[in-house]
Amino acid sequence: MPRPASASGETPRPAAEAAAPAAGPRPAPPKRPGARPAERLPVILTVEPDADYALLDSGAGEKLERYGPLTVRRPENQAIWGKRLADPAWEAADAIFTGDTDEEGLGRWRFPKVPLGETWPLEHKGLSYLGRFTSYRHTGVFPEQAGHWAFVTDAIAAAKRPVKVLNLFGYTGLASLLAARAGAEVTHVDASKKAILWARENQELAGLTEAPIRWICEDAVRYAEREVKRGSRYDIVLLDPPRFGRGPKGEVWQLLDDLPYLLDLCRSLMSDKPLALILTAYSIRSSFYSLQALMTETLRGMGGTVESGELIIREAGEDARCLSTSLFSRWIP
Ligand SMILES: C[S@@+](CC[C@H](N)C(=O)[O-])C[C@H]1O[C@@H](n2cnc3c(N)ncnc32)[C@H](O)[C@@H]1O
Repeated sequence: MPRPASASGETPRPAAEAAAPAAGPRPAPPKRPGARPAERLPVILTVEPDADYALLDSGAGEKLERYGPLTVRRPENQAIWGKRLADPAWEAADAIFTGDTDEEGLGRWRFPKVPLGETWPLEHKGLSYLGRFTSYRHTGVFPEQAGHWAFVTDAIAAAKRPVKVLNLFGYTGLASLLAARAGAEVTHVDASKKAILWARENQELAGLTEAPIRWICEDAVRYAEREVKRGSRYDIVLLDPPRFGRGPKGEVWQLLDDLPYLLDLCRSLMSDKPLALILTAYSIRSSFYSLQALMTETLRGMGGTVESGELIIREAGEDARCLSTSLFSRWIP
């Protein structure tokens, strides 16, 4: 699934991507001593339909989803099979991504029933936040991340001690807010002012304005470099990098070139009682075996286990199929 990728929190047009200067080589990460962590793979984390979200159908290059009260129809290039539901179900969508103008915001959506605003209220396990019709067909949330959110909130609760979380490429803040609600102190980093603004709106809606969350608008690599220099440490590090992105000062992020360097910085940021390092990767020509190999090399000497696989969403109803959304790899002690 294509993901928000520019500093504006949105997927850039291919032309913009092609025109971007190369990132330049990052320093090669050091070869870490010690044994590689134990390995478990494949691990498939499946999101099942529930009252907050459901994948109603998919096929023919599209998906039909229910986000709280609204049904949303969007392109989905993984859906190369046929639809299960008949046309009327698809035609009854409240919002359809058309992508047929260059306009920012709502212009690229059609609302066949009643005109809708840019946002609408949603919940995830009782946490309130806003769904959004964004210019690049995203909805302000990636429901397939629910498996990671549950894992993180369980780890925070089970730790029974103060837990610090670093959320790099944090977007609209769902992971940060859920971690904060579970009791963690959170540092949320995103290059996009707009994404940070949206995340803060979500913070307010979630009733978490007093929660210890630092919102940082910065390039993820720059921030991690500075944190390493400062000697900061985190118990949980989350990274959900886009394939391509830009920092606020135009810093170029290219996942396949820059991930080894950033991951090594993240390793240096782990506390002496670390709980998890969780990486998700979308829209890359790669395999979870590649993430697994990179993670186990980077985390040599840490003990624990690295498990890798895919985040998938199961359709609702009879004869459901599963939609693959992304690759992930996570280290656990
Ligand atoms: C894939 S989204 C993250 C989604 C989020 N983790 C979630 O599940 O809701 C990618 C985010 O990375 C941000 N981004 C892109 N390039 C960046 C960079 N160089 N440094 C920091 N953030 C960046 C974008 O603004 C966008 O919000």
